[in-house]
Amino acid sequence: MEIEFVAAGAAVQPKAAVAQVVFEGEAPNGPFGPALAASRFTGAKGQTLDLIGPAGFEAARVVLVGAGKREGFDALSAENAAASAYNVLKGSGLQALRLELPVGDAATAARAALGLRLAAYRFDKYRTKEPAEKKPSILRAQIVTAEPEMALAAFPPLAALADAVSFSRDLVSEPANILYPAEFARRVKELESLGLEVEVLGEPEMTKLGMGSLLGVGQGSVRESQLVVIRWNGAADKTAAPLAFVGKGVCFDSGGISIKPAEGMEDMKWDMGGAGAVAGLMHVLAARKAKVNVVGILGLVENMPDANAQRPGDVVTSMSGQTIEVVNTDAEGRLVLADAIWYCQDRFKPRLLVDLATLTGAIITALGNDYAGLFSNNDELAANLLDASVKEGEPLWRLPLPDQYNKQIDSMIADMKNTGGRAGGSITAALFIQKFVNNLPWAHLDIASTAWKKPSSAPTIPEGATGFGVRLLNRLIQEKYEA
Ligand code: BES
Ligand code: MN
Ligand code: ZN
Repeated sequence: MEIEFVAAGAAVQPKAAVAQVVFEGEAPNGPFGPALAASRFTGAKGQTLDLIGPAGFEAARVVLVGAGKREGFDALSAENAAASAYNVLKGSGLQALRLELPVGDAATAARAALGLRLAAYRFDKYRTKEPAEKKPSILRAQIVTAEPEMALAAFPPLAALADAVSFSRDLVSEPANILYPAEFARRVKELESLGLEVEVLGEPEMTKLGMGSLLGVGQGSVRESQLVVIRWNGAADKTAAPLAFVGKGVCFDSGGISIKPAEGMEDMKWDMGGAGAVAGLMHVLAARKAKVNVVGILGLVENMPDANAQRPGDVVTSMSGQTIEVVNTDAEGRLVLADAIWYCQDRFKPRLLVDLATLTGAIITALGNDYAGLFSNNDELAANLLDASVKEGEPLWRLPLPDQYNKQIDSMIADMKNTGGRAGGSITAALFIQKFVNNLPWAHLDIASTAWKKPSSAPTIPEGATGFGVRLLNRLIQEKYEA
């Protein structure tokens, strides 16, 4: 979508709808008075009222969008209001949208533009027969602001963020026959054009490194497992220890020999959402030239049943030297992360490490569909993540890492087993990962609850892949780690 920032006096584009964002209890009277009186619209957050422009009005179509109470209005409200306006009008047949916000500052206008871009995301590359009248019609937007030049100057990093979230959503939306580990790696390699350094390790290299845990997961697949290392060195001191982000990239999780039930198995194409978020994060950091050193690691595998697949009861040796009894081949994400995290620490000595993974169904049981689980060995890092999550509308909820639950993953014959039973399933998964974390600030985000949305949970998140994590980690870095 093409977006411009204009002053209030600028002419309305031809065939444009006007969207007026209004505070609760402050809905305009004037030409809309009669229509408002005949509706339940109060301006409460999330409300919309779709109207025909009164005779003589500057546009033929008008949408009023509730922004909630003036006191509670912030950048996130502006973003959501803009997205709501887009969602009402996208199928209107009109090609342009003029957004009128209740406050005029540049920062609010720029965030509204981000809201439009995120709401307009659509994964339609496999629709070959969609009639034009079913496609979204809005192609251009004007955002009215008192500071058009400043808004334009504030927008590029947010446009970069929208691009990165879209990149992440595309990866997660792709079916597993198209996006297998090598193809995922290839798409990330293309990000070198933004200035990222991308290295791809294949199975021979990982075998040499002793990554028996990750390799065991991919053993039943005809697709080669890959470990992708993405580097962005934007700090003044290029040798300063990086921040590290590690993503679970299971391009398809059938469960392996511990095979999943058929119903809903198609969802497991998005079991690479953690890796998708890390790839998106690296994309935005490079695109906005973030002043920080960051390394992103993607553990990419396909978990399949096969004559050569790993069996329940197999014991594998991880790169750390620790042995794991694989009692359930469907608890594969933690096996991938174990080696990816170890490799990351061993090679890069990062100052902190955050991993993201669609790790457990149990996190959905615990937190529902809007919160991702946060686990951390460091209160400061946890607090910073929670703060960023609130500001970006990507909610997290912290859960504990109780040492006494470690006994649930004791093995009779190896250093640990890979599942701890039903009780606290997300917690024992996190405790398993912690066994591969050295002495550094670490957080684990279990995003199985938030990587994919059906139905949509916010106006900026269309149904399907969310890109969850890109925004909150970008914010964390921007606010806490850029000079
Ligand atoms: N990828 C799944 C977790 C998942 C489930 C993500 C539902 C999204 C929606 C993970 O690999 C898995 O299968 N976890 C098992 C762990 C169990 C075997 C201990 C689970 O959650 O059932
Ligand atoms: Mn699984
Ligand atoms: Zn999985």
